[in-house]
Amino acid sequence: MTKSNNRDDVSLVSKAKKELSKLYSEVNKHDEYYYREHNPKIPDNEYDDLRRSILKIEANFPSLVLATSPSLRVGAEPSEKFGKVKHSLPMLSIQNAKNREEVVSWNDGIKNFLMINDNTVIEYVAEPKIDGLSASLLYENGELTVAATRGNGLFGEDITENIKTIKGVPLTIDKKRAPKVLEIRGEVYMSHDNFYSLNKIQVEQGKEPFKNPRNAAAGSLKQLDSKETSKRSLEFFAYAWGDSSSLPYDNHYDLINFFKDLGFPINKNFGIFKTIDDLIIFYNDILEKRPDLGYDIDGIVYKLNRLDLRERLQSTEHHPRWAIAHKFPAERAVTKIIDVEIQVGRTGVLTPVARLQPIAIGGALISNASLHNFEEVSRKDIRIGDMVWVQRAGDVIPQVIKVIKEKRLKNIEPIVPPVNCPVCGAKAEKDLILSGNIEKEEKYIRCTGGLTCSAQAIERIKHFVSKGAFDIEGLGQKQIDDYFAEKIIESPVDIFYIERRYKDNPPSFWRYTSGSPNKIGTIKDSALKLFKSINSKKEIELDRFLFSLGIRHLGLTSAGLLAGHYKSIEKMLDIFSADNSIDALSDILSLDGVGKKVAISIMDFFLNLESRNLIYDLIKSGVIIKNFDREIKDTKISNKTVLITGSLESMSRAEAKVKIEILGAKLSSSLSKKTNFLIAGSKPTLSKIEKAKDFGIKIFSEEEWNTFISE
Ligand code: IVH
Repeated sequence: MTKSNNRDDVSLVSKAKKELSKLYSEVNKHDEYYYREHNPKIPDNEYDDLRRSILKIEANFPSLVLATSPSLRVGAEPSEKFGKVKHSLPMLSIQNAKNREEVVSWNDGIKNFLMINDNTVIEYVAEPKIDGLSASLLYENGELTVAATRGNGLFGEDITENIKTIKGVPLTIDKKRAPKVLEIRGEVYMSHDNFYSLNKIQVEQGKEPFKNPRNAAAGSLKQLDSKETSKRSLEFFAYAWGDSSSLPYDNHYDLINFFKDLGFPINKNFGIFKTIDDLIIFYNDILEKRPDLGYDIDGIVYKLNRLDLRERLQSTEHHPRWAIAHKFPAERAVTKIIDVEIQVGRTGVLTPVARLQPIAIGGALISNASLHNFEEVSRKDIRIGDMVWVQRAGDVIPQVIKVIKEKRLKNIEPIVPPVNCPVCGAKAEKDLILSGNIEKEEKYIRCTGGLTCSAQAIERIKHFVSKGAFDIEGLGQKQIDDYFAEKIIESPVDIFYIERRYKDNPPSFWRYTSGSPNKIGTIKDSALKLFKSINSKKEIELDRFLFSLGIRHLGLTSAGLLAGHYKSIEKMLDIFSADNSIDALSDILSLDGVGKKVAISIMDFFLNLESRNLIYDLIKSGVIIKNFDREIKDTKISNKTVLITGSLESMSRAEAKVKIEILGAKLSSSLSKKTNFLIAGSKPTLSKIEKAKDFGIKIFSEEEWNTFISE
């Protein structure tokens, strides 16, 4: 090819630019028709041609690609979804205490951290922990402007219109008294009465009843149509605050009462206490009142009252150090076991499930309970027809605690563990596992059919699209069962090809989509909606991706640890390869919080050709796995390593560690060439000082350090 002269280049570029801009608006227009109005005006192949022309021009003139190019996004902006809201201060979780000892040890920790003498009294507030959903309500110049769910703690969903339908929530507050910007945080919940009436209506309308008031509240709050929410009778308690331009008090108790004066509903069961004993008395008192409160609570939250102490204690990534939830024991009731069925899980585990005579426990109607495994069934000697104690604790699956043997009828046979999978008929066996250094049988019976067992294959897909994983809306249990039965989705990869299959062959697809065949319009709508939701989830964080793969024993927490350590899926595929397996295993084991069981299971997974192919195929299908990169604060000690020797006077070691960490540095426990700073407190280890001098490490006295980091 001959080189064209400059003038030609210029005219070519401007021609391309014009052509592109025409194509952009053309495609955008059709996206609108297709995605927003669900009313395409041109056949799919013509639309595809338009997009292809864009790609062709963009490939030749990369500098012309605009951020608004249709090639950079899939579908139109969602118009039927909640917007995202960034929380100016993260909405954290809370640490739990199961018993008095754990409360005492929390309190000891705080006192040590703050270097407060054991006998010095500090004030706590205590209030019920409401079992609902937390929400943040932003008031600017006295007006409710934005309300959001907690979401993942950093970003929530914009539920402003829905929150406005909750009767107790003030839409405006006294401008003269309230700070200019005030973010109220609290719990949205549903009372038992409203829960029962709502479920009655649900059943009358042929819909599934909600499992418990919390789920009902969540379902109601997340209605896209706020008119629907307004029919659902939600309530709200204010118990905390987020970012605010100023706060008129320096303690929790006065602030909560101030919120009450501004018109917010607060829980009247709350008070100030000075000792752990008094906190426990309050706990027992509310525990006794619990059945009559009319709404679900699952514990008591204890919080330090003074805000200056809270400020010093700071928060971990997960929870503030200044609060703890003292959980209530689960609620129990007696009912009858009608049947025991076997469920096949995604890793083949056969779980016995008890079908119960439905019974209300707390605010929820219970009709199933997990029996965990067949060893447990025989240990508790559970039989069909038995009367049993059943326990419900929050959102966990109800459990059968104990059989009431005295009530057992004669001639009831024990339950026999299965020898075959009830779904595919393959042999059912116990795997061998490592316990210490000895191999022994695990307690679970597994179907050996692998993915040839339809139940396992289906469960794997369900896990793949579940909340902590790809979180694909519109692919519920029922849809997956249907798509699987019709051979449309048989593996996770198929999910990312269904839009193409639909476009290639719409009529047969319509037959498969649930719904009545003569309502083709609505079926098409729901299919389009599903494609949109699949496309919007194609890009995924590494930890969620790892979790979605359904690796045995790998939960979200360990997936997060792995993601933080390995940073990218490419690196993991590379490290966990056959010729490198011993090093790779010891590398995983070096991660704090990842045990042997998990480590071996990850190795097994990545060494398996089928699993590797699954990852490659997902990438090929358009899935984008984002590398892990958490924002690191840019300070003069970010990414540096600090060591402390000797004891500190101005603060505890724990507090010093937190201060170092919030500035982006790491506190290490041993000295090496990689150490950047050494803080020498009183009675330092002299050899460390000597060594630090040798290495040329900067040494600070405690006072020098405090000035250095506060400058
Ligand atoms: S304190 C993180 N107080 O518990 C500390 N939380 O907050 C600030 N919750 O999911 C919140 N009742 O939904 C606080 N009286 C109460 C609460 C409460 C319920 C929930 C909240 C959140 C979790 C941790």
